[in-house]
Amino acid sequence: MKKLGLVGWRGMVGSVLMQRMVEEGDFAFIDPVYFSTSAAGGKAPMFGGKEASLPLQDASNIDALKACEIIITCQGGDYTKEIFPKLRAAGWNGHWIDAASSLRMADDAVIVLDPVNMNVIKDALAKGGKNWIGGNCTVSLMLMGLGGLFQNDLIEWATSMTYQAASGAGAQNMRELIAQMGTIHDSVKDLLADPASAILDIDRKVAETIRSDSFPKKNFRNTPLAGSLIPWIDVPYENGQSKEEWKGGAECNKILGKPAFRTAGSIPIDGLCVRIGAMRCHSQALTIKLKKDVPLDEISDMLAKANPWAKVVPNDREISERELTPAAVTGTLTVPVGRLHKMAMGPEYLAAFTCGDQLLWGAAEPLRRMLRILLD
Ligand code: HSE
Repeated sequence: MKKLGLVGWRGMVGSVLMQRMVEEGDFAFIDPVYFSTSAAGGKAPMFGGKEASLPLQDASNIDALKACEIIITCQGGDYTKEIFPKLRAAGWNGHWIDAASSLRMADDAVIVLDPVNMNVIKDALAKGGKNWIGGNCTVSLMLMGLGGLFQNDLIEWATSMTYQAASGAGAQNMRELIAQMGTIHDSVKDLLADPASAILDIDRKVAETIRSDSFPKKNFRNTPLAGSLIPWIDVPYENGQSKEEWKGGAECNKILGKPAFRTAGSIPIDGLCVRIGAMRCHSQALTIKLKKDVPLDEISDMLAKANPWAKVVPNDREISERELTPAAVTGTLTVPVGRLHKMAMGPEYLAAFTCGDQLLWGAAEPLRRMLRILLD
């Protein structure tokens, strides 16, 4: 049985990973070694009914890490940057599965999303690949929803305009979003309870509240999210893009095994990434330039057949309102894709909208599945 080192299992992505591993019975196939950055020597947790043979190990102890054949980490980019080079320099030749972005674009790393790029994963495995990195959540979710069009090489270019949830910014941001919602409600509770109150009085009070210095917004860089939105995610990068926007093109092409973004043969993908007040589901509106005019029923068929999780939602108001929303999708692995129609610009222009759980397919699930590929 393979010794699996688990690092960062207590955080938000790590907890979702543990939950999915329990649900899928993964612990039956591994000998777990739990690592901690703060409580080495303490009692290891028990997941999936499997007792760990060792107490909590120190996550910075290279010898302890070296004893594992596979390491899976959700500890974050700083940890990866510090530990991974030391571990490899110490001669460790195991498999490293990582949720952080630090190693994603390295030549010897594969961004894992097996329902979409099993061929790239298999190819790298055959060549002795050892570094398996989870993709950016928005990119993975776009590829899960629209995989059929990519697999059939039908996309000339695409724009993705995103509606990203608070979870992508972190657990504290999710808490802060709820605190913001509560603060807004508290500020107009009395007016709301009075059916005769004027809506513009309520609105003015809400605006004052979200603009006030005391509004809870420090985790969102002092910008209100509830009752508003934030049109910038991550640091400024290049060509006017934020880093999140750059990842759309850079990671998507790498996942698909295409030439590097902005080089000949790659697919141009670009758009604006926007934070909205959803909890953990990222949505995106896409404009896709197809290489040719493909009938809508054929497109629907390709999307639905691409993987078991993509679900085509008919372009119907009631069904879209019910099934194509963060509220409907949260906590599930389903990635609905809908609003499919040809656009006014011509028959090769396709509109689409997709939504997916940022912590599942957007973070934990591709890592868990990579582990299972290594164990098979
Ligand atoms: N960068 C993403 C976001 C989450 O801010 O929503 C991680 O992929």
